[in-house]
Amino acid sequence: MNWTKDEMQSQKGKLFLVTGANTGLGYQTALELAKKDAEVILAGRSAEKINAAIEQILSEYPFARLKAGIVDLSSLESVREFATSIKAEHNKLDVLINNAGVMFPPPSLTKDGYELQFGVNYMAHFLLTAELFDLLKNTPNSRVVTLSSIAHLNGTIDFDNLKLEKPFDKFREYGQSKVADLIFTLELQRRLEGEELNTISVAAHPGTSKTELLRTDNPEMWDKFPHMDPNQGAFSTLYAATEQLEGGSYIGPNGEMERTGYPAPASIADYAKDETIGKQLWDYTLSELNINFLPE
Ligand SMILES: NC(=O)c1ccc[n+]([C@@H]2O[C@H](COP(=O)([O-])OP(=O)(O)OC[C@H]3O[C@@H](n4cnc5c(N)ncnc54)[C@H](OP(=O)(O)O)[C@@H]3O)[C@@H](O)[C@H]2O)c1
Repeated sequence: MNWTKDEMQSQKGKLFLVTGANTGLGYQTALELAKKDAEVILAGRSAEKINAAIEQILSEYPFARLKAGIVDLSSLESVREFATSIKAEHNKLDVLINNAGVMFPPPSLTKDGYELQFGVNYMAHFLLTAELFDLLKNTPNSRVVTLSSIAHLNGTIDFDNLKLEKPFDKFREYGQSKVADLIFTLELQRRLEGEELNTISVAAHPGTSKTELLRTDNPEMWDKFPHMDPNQGAFSTLYAATEQLEGGSYIGPNGEMERTGYPAPASIADYAKDETIGKQLWDYTLSELNINFLPE
């Protein structure tokens, strides 16, 4: 039987934090979790957009328990400040959903000098996870869900090109950010197991879902491929966030080339599973962020 949002159990009593929740997959994820009575923090960089998303959800489901969280993931300082505010207000976090992302922006850097896709899609979410880890650790059966992509299959990490050192290649750099997300997911799971912690780390991808993701490139591109609406696109994330799963699971749509369909185990490139690369990327990130999160 194909899993849909209707199969999702009640999430009453659980706290979720979804980044990039004002539109696209993040919005649909927050909406469906709220309808199942979860408490949801909707995080995004624009207070106006986040508040509009909250109003929209409340108009569909007046009982929704929602909070706004403002964070600009292109600034590590903003991530740190945001995490501090979350920790001041909450003493637990059941599920962190690292969803926000950018694809094919013009060549540009984050405030801290990373290529924008690598900085927002990977570095900021690594830091957010690390900064919120005390909350996750204190919550039984907590989990981290990170969004990757079919594009990870062509991705590799070029440690000499994480800060736009080489001429910009939008496909290569997006693939790099998304394979980094999956490497992070798997390495985090290995380190959680090493510490015998019961938080799990899983990943999801939405196949091809017609969202605002290509807003700075070519939004018509969606129509050249089989694609889903954002609500169905969010099923993989919702499944990964709420179903009984092994740590390290990767969930995506079960149709042809994983572009459309219903949640199922998805293909992981051997490169993403490589433990040497996992350790190398983790060590690089700790050193860049100057933190000591689950060191080996
Ligand atoms: N759509 C697909 O087919 C597809 C396929 C594979 C993977 N994915 C992944 O799915 C995730 C969600 O993407 P989507 O398709 O839903 O795209 P989307 O509709 O463009 O939504 C992206 C979200 O990320 C937020 N965001 C971008 N930059 C940010 C920043 N600096 N700080 C805070 N928030 C920021 C956006 O906020 P603003 O509105 O304020 O910019 C928006 O809420 C991404 O990680 C993407 O890589 C999507």
